[in-house]
Amino acid sequence: MFINFWYPAEWSDQVTDAPVRVRMLGQDFVVFRDSAGTAHCLSNTCIHRGGSLAGGKVAGDCVQCPYHGWEFDGDGVCRRIPSLGPAARVPARARVDAYPTQERYGIVFAFLGDLPEDERPPLMDIPEYGQPGWRVTTQDRRSGDEYRRQVENALDPAHNEFVHPTHGFSGERDDYRVPELQVEEDEWTSGFMTQYFAPPLKDEKMKSASGRSEDATIEAGSIHHGPSTICTKIHPTAEVCIHQQAFKVPVDELGTRTFLVQTRNFLLEPEHDARFLERNDVVAGQDADVLAALEPRLTPETNHHEFLLPADAAVVRYREKLALWESRGWRIDTATVERNRKRAAYAIPSPARRSRPSGWVLDPVPLLAGDAATAARTATGN
Ligand code: FES
Ligand SMILES: [Fe+2]
Repeated sequence: MFINFWYPAEWSDQVTDAPVRVRMLGQDFVVFRDSAGTAHCLSNTCIHRGGSLAGGKVAGDCVQCPYHGWEFDGDGVCRRIPSLGPAARVPARARVDAYPTQERYGIVFAFLGDLPEDERPPLMDIPEYGQPGWRVTTQDRRSGDEYRRQVENALDPAHNEFVHPTHGFSGERDDYRVPELQVEEDEWTSGFMTQYFAPPLKDEKMKSASGRSEDATIEAGSIHHGPSTICTKIHPTAEVCIHQQAFKVPVDELGTRTFLVQTRNFLLEPEHDARFLERNDVVAGQDADVLAALEPRLTPETNHHEFLLPADAAVVRYREKLALWESRGWRIDTATVERNRKRAAYAIPSPARRSRPSGWVLDPVPLLAGDAATAARTATGN
């Protein structure tokens, strides 16, 4: 799990007048709105004696701890300590980590890390969101699978033939093969578009509206943005688009929540939403059945113990990106966090720790030491 990326914390309409506890990257956060309606995300552990801020209430522009009533504003600064009396000055050290937020696509996103604004990876853009001629649906999915396994599954064009009966011919055609992959990438992304041969759709409405003929060739592909966001594009014809933007957040090492924002440019009337949602559920269920049985449960740390093929090229490139981000010191040392789980509360380091390195009550979450050798290890499989 990696710090220094934007993660979906909660749907905007779920953050109303009460604080919400959200678990991300194996840590707890509180999300709340101030009196102006601005959403904030703080480390959930009260620095007094460990109360869960999300168990308290919103008081003006602050969230109030349920244990002794300390109040923290959206910047994480403690504004009031009731036990000191009304005239007391609040010590400067009384603050919790606060994370930058932005609301887009009906989701509150939090930047979980300490990078200054101009160095932060961007949130994935959805250019057609809110544009005329496009319809948006959303789905919330929670699973007990690791996010890397899910991302790699999306970047794997060879599984569709066997896992999804509507995406291929279940290995029955003699001429089946995966076309050579052209993996495209930039600083934060990599992925591909390719072609699939798919059987005719059973749903006549979808079939006619998508313009998809018998045994059609479908252009489709996926690209990852950062460690846990995926955009899958499905183009049954040159004019017809289904785009699936999956903003995933690792809840824990084994546990992923997906905020799916799907856009389509056909069958725009709301009464057609259900058929898309149901279809997504069926396909996601097929993937989930396979992922739940993978060994090991977590993506392997080297490429040594798998037999990788050219069709796995995008998976390999994704792993190389992760290794690069690990080499920058952005990967959480989950083994140490787990070992200390009952004895130590940590906070994901926030940007304020850069300008004010000392005086924080909670230790930052342990990170794996970054080094160039880490990047080389996964890239070469050595
Ligand atoms: S533990 Fe939060 S106010 Fe005491
Ligand atoms: Fe799949």
